[in-house]
Amino acid sequence: MKDWWKETTIYQIYPRSFYDSNGDGIGDLPGIIEKLDYIRDMGFETIWLSPHYASPQRDFGYDITDYFSVAPEYGTTDDALALIDEVHSRDMKIVFDMILNHTSDQHPWFLESRSSKDNPRRDWYIWKKGKGGGKPPTNWACLPGGSGWKYDSTTDEWFFHNFLDFQPDLNFRNPEVKQAMFETMRYWLDRGVDGFRLDIFHSIFKDDQFRDNPFSWKYVPTSDFDEGYFQKLEYNINRPETFELAREVRALIDEYEPDRFVVGEVFGKNVVKKYLGPNQDGLNLILLFDLIELQGNDKKSEEIRGILNNYETNYATPYIPTYCLGNHDRRRYMSRIAGNADLARLLALLQYTARGVPITYYGDEIGIPDGDLPHMGAKDATAHKYWWLPPAVARGLNLYVNRDGCRTPMQWNGEKNAGFSKEGDSEPWLPVHPDYRQCNVGFQRTQPFSLLNVHRELLHLRKEMDCLRRGSMHLLEGVPEPVVAYSRKGQGQELRIFMNFSPAPVRFSHSSGKLRFSTSGETALEDGYTKLGPWSGLVLEL
Ligand code: NOJ
Repeated sequence: MKDWWKETTIYQIYPRSFYDSNGDGIGDLPGIIEKLDYIRDMGFETIWLSPHYASPQRDFGYDITDYFSVAPEYGTTDDALALIDEVHSRDMKIVFDMILNHTSDQHPWFLESRSSKDNPRRDWYIWKKGKGGGKPPTNWACLPGGSGWKYDSTTDEWFFHNFLDFQPDLNFRNPEVKQAMFETMRYWLDRGVDGFRLDIFHSIFKDDQFRDNPFSWKYVPTSDFDEGYFQKLEYNINRPETFELAREVRALIDEYEPDRFVVGEVFGKNVVKKYLGPNQDGLNLILLFDLIELQGNDKKSEEIRGILNNYETNYATPYIPTYCLGNHDRRRYMSRIAGNADLARLLALLQYTARGVPITYYGDEIGIPDGDLPHMGAKDATAHKYWWLPPAVARGLNLYVNRDGCRTPMQWNGEKNAGFSKEGDSEPWLPVHPDYRQCNVGFQRTQPFSLLNVHRELLHLRKEMDCLRRGSMHLLEGVPEPVVAYSRKGQGQELRIFMNFSPAPVRFSHSSGKLRFSTSGETALEDGYTKLGPWSGLVLEL
């Protein structure tokens, strides 16, 4: 189908944590293949696979040493090709993660580049002399905090990294680099992958004049991640050349049939829409992070209404918003909302019925909470520089510095290690969350209003009702304050969605309709009135 990506649903897999088919404690590609029927039966249509490429795994694949091969612990290139085929044979799609901004510092290109100033690959990365007195070339902070420059004594120059210091940024101003990176995309597109999620795409170009970033009073980064560490990140992210690059990437993937798509990870206030291109000719989609910022149980109706109004205004048709509640970098949504399982169901209702592309992080469909893991000794390298910061203080500041917590193994059943490893005695690479005896796929399948079943039923309703996939959306007035309501209309259908974002039941009059879905047994229609239990929601068909 043309433009299938506009109405798809996406399931994100972190390969290390999904299913370990050979008992070494690490998830792998054959393990994903074994679980494809689960993903299809849930109703997801597209898989986004976090990186599976060869890597020293200091940032678990976001530090690549070979874009054309697969990390041995995950399998082989043949396994990757089999995965693509198996996905397609189930009438599903798969997009890979693509890291254009940087490589590992162990990538042969970087090893060459750092070896001498006249190495032919010197200019493939961003090298510069310091300001003198041990000072880096500019004041640019990297995204996890601290200087983005690292001194290298081999040539007495500094290289730039917008993420961690073992992830040197490529120099896209060098046409050879752009060509080489476009080749990596072509390699996988030629092998049938349906597109890419583009890692920190907004970081790719840096100011060509190397101007210092202006001062800001903010130390803790804003949710837009464009201000923090006492500076406005003006010159090392969201440079105009990156918007142009988005169009070039789109042109590349548009050469392919059937349709492919790219979804960009981009941050910044008021600028990210530019990545979609002036005529929808940039990235197909961008990740919007408003739902990932939701915390606690208070004021949820106000916040949700704000998000919906924002998306329906700024990303009105033909733009398409994305709805993600979690990913591999942020606290699990169940923990952010303080374990309120009813609210978790309501947010699933929102995610699959609002106009846009829903993206669900593995394990969020059963509500795995965040692992309570210490910063000291963390597997996640971003935690290393914050080893001294107690996790509770970090959470209080709304900082998430140890991403181990959201990457614990998938909980398949109540058996040993939650059924994560098929055989063997190796411990999983991260501890399974201790609540796995209740919170697992096998158990939740048997529970009528379990989060798993809510996700599955909504995904199926979305497949059945065209208006949910491509209909218009209007926020409805005239409902009591804790209720958020909207309609989805199109293709001769109309659905109305009502959600009670409060701990008290509400009752209000509505136009009549047929109950299509409810998040809990406490929802009812009585003589022209709708009754919604605490934190409950429903879908009516008119
Ligand atoms: C963003 C990714 O989501 C994160 O996991 C990774 O560590 C950084 N980019 C660096 O690639």
